[in-house]
Amino acid sequence: MNTSRSEALFAAAQKLMPGGVNSPVRAFKSVGGQPILFDRVEGAYAWDVDGNRYIDYIGSWGPAICGHAHPEVIEALHQALAKGTSFGAPCALENQLAQMVIDAVPSVEMVRFVNSGTEACMAVLRLMRAYTGRDKLIKFEGCYHGHADMFLVKAGSGVATLGLPDSPGVPSSTTANTLTAPYNDLEAVKELFAANPDSIAGVILEPVVGNAGFIPPDFGFLEGLRELTNEYGALLVFDEVMTGFRIAYGGAQAKFGVTPDLTTMGKVIGGGLPVGAYGGRAEIMAMVAPAGPMYQAGTLSGNPLAMTAGIKTLELLKQPGCYEQLEARTKRLSNGIQAAAQAAGLPICGSSISAMFGFFLCEGPVRNFEEAKSADTTRFAKLHRAMLERGVYLAPSAFEAGFTSLAHSEADIDATIDAFRESFAIIA
Ligand SMILES: Cc1ncc(COP(=O)(O)O)c(C=O)c1O
Repeated sequence: MNTSRSEALFAAAQKLMPGGVNSPVRAFKSVGGQPILFDRVEGAYAWDVDGNRYIDYIGSWGPAICGHAHPEVIEALHQALAKGTSFGAPCALENQLAQMVIDAVPSVEMVRFVNSGTEACMAVLRLMRAYTGRDKLIKFEGCYHGHADMFLVKAGSGVATLGLPDSPGVPSSTTANTLTAPYNDLEAVKELFAANPDSIAGVILEPVVGNAGFIPPDFGFLEGLRELTNEYGALLVFDEVMTGFRIAYGGAQAKFGVTPDLTTMGKVIGGGLPVGAYGGRAEIMAMVAPAGPMYQAGTLSGNPLAMTAGIKTLELLKQPGCYEQLEARTKRLSNGIQAAAQAAGLPICGSSISAMFGFFLCEGPVRNFEEAKSADTTRFAKLHRAMLERGVYLAPSAFEAGFTSLAHSEADIDATIDAFRESFAIIA
């Protein structure tokens, strides 16, 4: 595999941007070797600057659920572009996407659009505090809610990938109100509430974890959190930046039948353009400026291009059979990966829900971040390289979920399983 142009460009990038990238995990630090620089993406594929083609299981870290550069999204964007890129004033497209999100996501009666998942989570925490008049927050070890100070405590994603305990530059006063518990551990949450009965504004979590590897909630975990938050007058917040419109059209809350008070979203709702959102019960959202006193704003929020990509993406996802296809193909992939590892005599555990999957190179089961850390990351790094050489682009970290799309064909899944079979045999 010739990657000379990627290597030259990345060498130059390292002098221009910290670590040569604009988001840490992209730098391949935890899997070693040089990152591949993409030139273009289409459908299930990405092409690098040296002309190599990969079946892509990152999908821009989630947004590309209809496949990259879907022709209908691109066409809609062309039309929107002709009217200008940003209005800085209200537009009808915002109503349209807001209505679609409200119709789809059970907890959302009103929504505010922002520009990223980080922004959505920052704002939702302010809202939790404003509404309850309480300061403390419970989050779970290995869950990632963007890079705002208050959430950089035992955070997943890049923070876990790079093994950083927390980040320098985050004052301890900022995280003093952030309490943490192991995922899937209701008893630990109960103890936190018992010790702080009147001061916890709420609980935020990934309803299916994707940032500590892929970890589904235990039966009863989400329901238990709903009951506990109700009992203590605290808010339950699902961070569905990753799971929204991916685990089901209505997100994980629709799939599991547990309705939080507030929800954050991103990725898919922007169809590949920068969009985040937070929403929930109208009575809580009425606190947000200018309807209420909680301030939050954004120059590019609700811009017509991002709204257009989001609307078209949701329209495509609404077509019958989409989620059935995503579920069946992703499950076949996940089963194939596990069978391939087992055939090579390697320990593995993993699963999938809808268009999200993951595996850990350990016996399992993995129910929380601590257990995830027992996976063999050195072997994962070798696997990652072997897969790349076979034209399959996996997330460059043992602690990230994989994403499929409507563009991944049965043939793509077969080719991927074959590549896993060969790669596992090499690294065993
Ligand atoms: C669950 C979750 N919340 C928040 C974020 C932050 O979103 P963004 O990267 O758009 O700021 C992410 C990003 O991966 C995420 O997965």
